[in-house]
Amino acid sequence: MQQRGRFITLEGGEGVGKSTNLAWVAQWLTAHGVEVVRTREPGGTPRAEAIRELLLSPQADEPLDADAELLLVFAARAQHLAQRIRPALARGAWVLCDRFTDATFAYQGGGRGIDPARIAELERFVQQGLEPDLTLLLDMPVDAAQRRLQGRLAAGGHTRDRFEQEHSAFFEAVRGVYLARARAAPRRVAVIDADAPLETVQARLSACLEERVREWL
Ligand code: TMP
Repeated sequence: MQQRGRFITLEGGEGVGKSTNLAWVAQWLTAHGVEVVRTREPGGTPRAEAIRELLLSPQADEPLDADAELLLVFAARAQHLAQRIRPALARGAWVLCDRFTDATFAYQGGGRGIDPARIAELERFVQQGLEPDLTLLLDMPVDAAQRRLQGRLAAGGHTRDRFEQEHSAFFEAVRGVYLARARAAPRRVAVIDADAPLETVQARLSACLEERVREWL
């Protein structure tokens, strides 16, 4: 029987350089002969992307209830797992996903203050034991990440989504949960210091992939 593919996720707060580095990791894997399915959460399928829109669009007229937000995140995840992630892994492809359930613990748990035990219940219900083989956590101080996000906004073509409109205390809480989860699961989560020029971050990613992924190739 064909071996199932590996499931790799990339995590981090707003403005840490996730998109650029995700593309770089995808290239690294492809160059090493891996079939990579690149995707993101919330989203990754047309219906899950529609849920993403509900989650991200700033709606001043009707606030989104925190529990509703949590359930929407997991609804999108259930769809994504069923339609895209599980089929890809089953045929032996590797899945490289921009955010996954660590983001739910960080944003809905840390940011919104939802009890992590409730998130863990939904995690079990929706994922049935599936979790990433490796999570790359891009980390930098919140003020540095906010300055980068500010630069992106000033350059135009991007307006703040519902999460990007949050205040620094929210992002401090998000970062705190990410780092705590990394400390609790060091074999799965690799923390990459992203507060450095792009080439330096990519050299760090490369070293991490050599160390953790090479044996799976
Ligand atoms: P992105 O900007 O990295 O594409 O992520 C979209 C936003 O969704 C980001 O602000 C974090 C948020 N999010 C959650 O709040 N919970 C989740 O479980 C996921 C996957 C994302």
